Amino acid sequence: MKVDVLTIFPEFFREVFDFGIIRRAKLAEIVEINIFDIREFTTDKHRMTDDRPFGGGDGMVFKAEPIFNAVEHLLGTCERENYPPKTKVVLLTPQGRVFKQEVAKEFADEIENLILICGRYEGVDERVNEALVTDEISIGDYVLSGGEPAAIVVVDAIVRLLPNALGSETSAVNDSFSSGLLDYPHYTRPAEFRGMKVPEVLLNGNHAEIEKWRQQKALEKTLKFRKDLLNIGES
Ligand code: ADE
Repeated sequence: MKVDVLTIFPEFFREVFDFGIIRRAKLAEIVEINIFDIREFTTDKHRMTDDRPFGGGDGMVFKAEPIFNAVEHLLGTCERENYPPKTKVVLLTPQGRVFKQEVAKEFADEIENLILICGRYEGVDERVNEALVTDEISIGDYVLSGGEPAAIVVVDAIVRLLPNALGSETSAVNDSFSSGLLDYPHYTRPAEFRGMKVPEVLLNGNHAEIEKWRQQKALEKTLKFRKDLLNIGES
């Protein structure tokens, strides 16, 4: 997969993709991640990426032109219907569809070229949504100062789902949400730490019992924190 991140703060991403699973996936050429400075695609002397809102009101609006120019540079077109196959142009915005594990899976399975536009200011000129963007994505019901942290979250969640991104010692199959439940609790050595003991069931080697215990605990955690995942009422 190729990921192109469009941002006015390229420095934000300087090292963030250089650790752990993402770093390994880059080295193994499972993913290529490129960061582009949207300011490079301005055409005016002051390299402005924002302007005042039509209709008045507080704050500034992200200009359409540099974003159109950047997408056109990357895809050779800024008409959605002419994008190459398996391409998505995603705007990160609190107004979008909420990013969940199933969205990460859908993107990991279907996309070869992912362009992430990091929104800023009060919002992005709506013509970017009207003409360029295939998906508007929010990482949750809170407002960030910009789409950059959201882009990091989205890239991380997708890359770990790409074929062979996880080492043989790890698997996404047991991750929280993959089963529709939160993950069960984990323990490692020592069996007793500061007087706290690992549950006996995990020490006896009875795999059927261990599996039953893990399912039970996953259900308990989900009931406690995320009833909404069980479709039985409010969280
Ligand atoms: N930009 C600002 N807030 C955001 C959010 N919650 N998700 C994605 N992008 C954002």
